[in-house]
Amino acid sequence: MQSIKANNLEKSFGAVKAVQKYSVEINQGEVVALVGDNGAGKSTVVKMLSGLYKPDAGEIFVNDRSVTLKSALDARKAGIETVLQDLALVPQRPVYLNLFLGREATKPAIRLLDHKMMCREAEKLFLELGVNIPNVKLPIGSLSGGQRQAVAIARAARWSQSLVIMDEPTAALGIAETAKVEELIRNLSLRGTSIFLISHNLDQVFRLTSKISILRRGEYIGEYETSQVTKNDIVSKITGSSD
Ligand SMILES: Nc1ncnc2c1ncn2[C@@H]1O[C@H](COP(=O)(O)OP(=O)(O)OP(=O)(O)O)[C@@H](O)[C@H]1O
Ligand SMILES: [Mg+2]
Repeated sequence: MQSIKANNLEKSFGAVKAVQKYSVEINQGEVVALVGDNGAGKSTVVKMLSGLYKPDAGEIFVNDRSVTLKSALDARKAGIETVLQDLALVPQRPVYLNLFLGREATKPAIRLLDHKMMCREAEKLFLELGVNIPNVKLPIGSLSGGQRQAVAIARAARWSQSLVIMDEPTAALGIAETAKVEELIRNLSLRGTSIFLISHNLDQVFRLTSKISILRRGEYIGEYETSQVTKNDIVSKITGSSD
């Protein structure tokens, strides 16, 4: 059983209250969205959950155990992997080495990189997730935007034990590529991976998620079951136009 819980997270930057009392719970295999206008505090929540910002207040639980995330490495150790908007892939390096970036497999006796093993693992993972990469030895720089995004997501899925956070995973992609990434997200969730999806694309949010969590100017507005609300409901909660 994997679950992630955040309780009353808060973060200010000087006088700016970027996030106030934000709470969310993501269970195994669940896809939960976080939506809000520009500057609402979404990326700040992402950064608190991935160890990049220390919360001013609040608590994070992984499988009901309270965790303190002081760095990205701490978050990884807790099983939380993040796909950031800039992807953090190295264009000149082949696909399979990007998949193992910072965690390269070595042959124990001689400490040489085990390229064969990493290639095999990369091919197996892509097959499992339905990711179409012609050859794992190609440099990342020669792939399309959608294929690169798929590699970044597959990498997060490969190493995550609890949660994959995706901050606008399809913002830069075309229609066909977006559809492929959405299919990948669905496959991951079917495999039991929990996903926290930050997206401005409400159609996408309605296609993929079971719950929608809303921030407005740093304030936590609430969480809604996707099947119980309409897009208009969500838009008015994002903008505050119904208040
Ligand atoms: N490192 C920082 N220093 C100062 N202010 C910050 C910092 N990071 C975020 N903020 C402020 O906190 C607020 C929330 O920003 P955040 O990036 O979390 O918004 P967002 O919801 O991700 O927006 P977007 O949809 O544009 O990505 C904004 O007012 C922003 O200016
Ligand atoms: Mg953001």
